[in-house]
Amino acid sequence: MKQGELRRALVVVTLLCIFLFIYLYWQQSSKLAPTLIYNYKHVYSSYRRSRPPQWTWRCVNQRCERRHIEGDADAAAPVSLATCSMLCGSTQLWPQPTGPVTLGSRAVTFDHGRLAVETTTGQPARALLVKAFAIFNDSVASLIERKDYARDRTDVRRFLVRVAVEHSDVVRLRMSTNESYSIVLRAVGGDMVANITAKTFFGARHGLETLSQLIWWDPYADGGALKVLKVATVQDSPAFAYRGLMVDTARNFMSVESLKRVLVGMSASKLNVFHWHLTDSQSFPLVVPSVPQLAKNGAYGPGMTYAPEDVRELVEFARVRGIRVVLEVDTPAHAGNGWTWGPQEGLGELAVCVNERPWSLYCGEPPCGQLNPENPNVYDILEKLYRDLIDLSGEDEIFHIGGDEVNLECWAQHLQKASTIYNYTDLHDLWGEFTLKALGKLVAANGGKRIPYVVVWSSKLSKRPYVTKYLEKSNVVVQSWGASQWPDTPDLIADGYRVIISHVDAWYLDCGFGRWRETGEAACDPYRPWQTVYNHRPWQQLRLDKKYIVGGEACLWSEQLDEASLDARLWPRASAFAERVWTDPQLDMATYSIQEDVYTRLSTHRDRLAARGIGAEALWPTWCTQNPGMCL
Ligand SMILES: *[C@@H]1O[C@H](CO)[C@@H](O)[C@H](O)[C@H]1NC(C)=O
Ligand SMILES: *[C@@H]1O[C@H](CO)[C@@H](O)[C@H](O)[C@H]1NC(C)=O
Ligand SMILES: *[C@@H]1O[C@H](CO)[C@@H](O)[C@H](O)[C@H]1NC(C)=O
Ligand SMILES: *[C@@H]1O[C@H](CO)[C@@H](O)[C@H](O)[C@H]1NC(C)=O
Repeated sequence: MKQGELRRALVVVTLLCIFLFIYLYWQQSSKLAPTLIYNYKHVYSSYRRSRPPQWTWRCVNQRCERRHIEGDADAAAPVSLATCSMLCGSTQLWPQPTGPVTLGSRAVTFDHGRLAVETTTGQPARALLVKAFAIFNDSVASLIERKDYARDRTDVRRFLVRVAVEHSDVVRLRMSTNESYSIVLRAVGGDMVANITAKTFFGARHGLETLSQLIWWDPYADGGALKVLKVATVQDSPAFAYRGLMVDTARNFMSVESLKRVLVGMSASKLNVFHWHLTDSQSFPLVVPSVPQLAKNGAYGPGMTYAPEDVRELVEFARVRGIRVVLEVDTPAHAGNGWTWGPQEGLGELAVCVNERPWSLYCGEPPCGQLNPENPNVYDILEKLYRDLIDLSGEDEIFHIGGDEVNLECWAQHLQKASTIYNYTDLHDLWGEFTLKALGKLVAANGGKRIPYVVVWSSKLSKRPYVTKYLEKSNVVVQSWGASQWPDTPDLIADGYRVIISHVDAWYLDCGFGRWRETGEAACDPYRPWQTVYNHRPWQQLRLDKKYIVGGEACLWSEQLDEASLDARLWPRASAFAERVWTDPQLDMATYSIQEDVYTRLSTHRDRLAARGIGAEALWPTWCTQNPGMCL
C-alpha cells in the first residue's frame, strides 16, 4: 500500500469512528430524554410549591375547610388539601367504580423505590402485566413534585402489588372481554399489600389505574412525600363494553406523539376504543403499504404522514393501556385528495367531484370528493386497503367502513356519461350497491371471514327503507351521530340494529368554535360543556333498549384544531364522557343537577391528567378547588 493510500484509509477509519461515536451518543441521549409528554408538570407545580405552607385544611362534615395557618389551633401539624381530600370521606376516583368501595381514613407514607410487583399470572398475559406495572410506576412517579424528597421517611418496608389474572391467554381486547377487577389494600406486617384480582389482563390494568388514584403527593410532609390509603377495597366493572373516543387526523395532521397523549388520557379514564379517523377529502396521511399512491397524492407534506411502523407502534402503545385501535378510512364520500392518480396509472377516475366548486353543490364542506362507484378498480383497491388496515391494527372483530354523507348530486352530475347511471331511478341504490361490494371486499380481505362488528356512520342509507335492504343487522353496527331528538337511534333499535351512540348535540367535542369559512354556518355551535357531556344518558332519556347499545363514543373532528390545542379540547370533557359509559350514574331528569362530588372528583382527575403531561383545561378557579363545596 502506498503511503498516500494508507493516510486516506486512516482518515476514513477515523471519520467512521467519530460518526459511530456521535450516533451512539445521540441514541443514548434520545433515550434519556423521552419526548412523549410536554412537561407541563413543572410549570404547573412550581407555583404551588410555596413553602412554608400558608393554608391548612380540616375535615368538617365530610368536606375540607381551608383555614389560614396562623389562625389555626392545629397549625403545628398543617394538613395539605390533597391529604385532607383523600381522607375526608369522598373518593377521588375517576371514573367512580360501579361496585362497592370502602376507603380507610388513615394514610401511610412510602418511598417510591419500595414499590414492587408480584404475580402468579402465566404467559402471555404476564409480559403485558409487566409493562402495565411499569406504566403504573410512572404514574406514581408523575405525582412526585420534588425529586429530592426525603426517601428515608417511609412507614413501610415494601409496597407490594400482587396481581392475579385468571385467563392468562387473553391479550387482545374483544367485545366479550371481562374488564372487571377488585382491589384489596391492607397493611400486612411491615408491608403495604395491594391485591388486584381480575379475570383478564384488561381488568387488572384498570385495577392498577384505580390503585394509582389511591396514591397522592403530600407537599406538607417535611418536603413532600408519597402517601397511600392504609385500607381500601374496590370492586368494579364497566357499564358498557365499547367506550370510544374518535380523533380526526385528516383535516389537520397530528403527530404520533400527540396521539400517544390521547391514549394516556384515555387509559387514565378507562376508555377502551381509540377510533382513528385517518383520512378524509382534505388529506390522506396514512401510508398504505400496498397502495402507497394514496398518501403520495394525498398527504399534506413529507413528515405529515403515518408510516406503517407508526400505526403499529401506536396500536401496541394502546394495547398495554387497555385500548384497542379502530382505523377508519372513510368511503365512498369524504374521499378526494389521495384518490386522484387513477388516470395517470391507467385505472380511470377513482374519485369524482374532487375539489369541485361551488363546493356546496356537491358536499358538506370543502373540498369535495367521492369514490367512483362505477370503476371496478376502486373495489380492488379497497380490498388491498382493507387487508392492510386489518394487518396494521390486528383488529378483526371491529372494522369501521365510514359510509356517511354521500352527496348523490355529485354522482348524478359526474357519472352522466356512463350509461349505467340511467339504470337507477333512485341513486340511494347505487350507494347501497357500493356498500355491499365494499363489504364483500372486506370479507375477502379478512381471509373469507365476516367481521362481527362492521361499523358505519348513520346516514340516509341507515334510514328506512334502505337500511334493511343494504345493511345486515347480524354484523353491521350503526354509529348514530345525529342529534339525540332525531328519530335515527330509536328507529335503528326498533329495526333490530345494534348502535354505538355519538349524538352530535352531546358528544361532539369540536363544536362551538365559530365558523372557519365565509359561506355556510358554523357547523355545530354551541360548545358542549362537560356537564352536557356528562348528563347525556340517552338510554334513559329516550327509553332505549340497552341490549342494542354496544356503547358510546365521543368525537373530535379537526377542522379547527391540531395538536397545539388537542389536549385542552379533549380533557377533561372526554373524562366526563368516560364516567358516563363506565359508571353510567343515574340522571335526575327533573333538575339535571350534578352532585358536588362529581365536581371535586373531576377537578382532582384534571390535576392528575396535568401531572401526567396532558394539557387538560381547568374546570374552575383554583379557589373552588381549595374550598370544596363553596362554588356550587
Ligand atoms: C419505578 O420507577 C423508578 C424510577 O421512576 C425506578 O427507580 C424503580 O426501579 C421502578 N420500580 C419498579 C418496580 O419498576
Ligand atoms: C366478569 O367477571 C366478574 C367476576 O367474576 C363477574 O361478576 C361478571 O359478571 C363478569 N362480567 C361479565 C360482563 O361477564
Ligand atoms: C392477597 O391474595 C393472596 C392470594 O392471592 C392471599 O394469600 C393474601 O392473604 C391476600 N392479601 C390480602 C392483604 O388480602
Ligand atoms: C344497466 O342497464 C343496461 C341495459 O339494460 C344493462 O346492460 C347493464 O348491465 C345495467 N347496468 C347495471 C350496473 O345494472
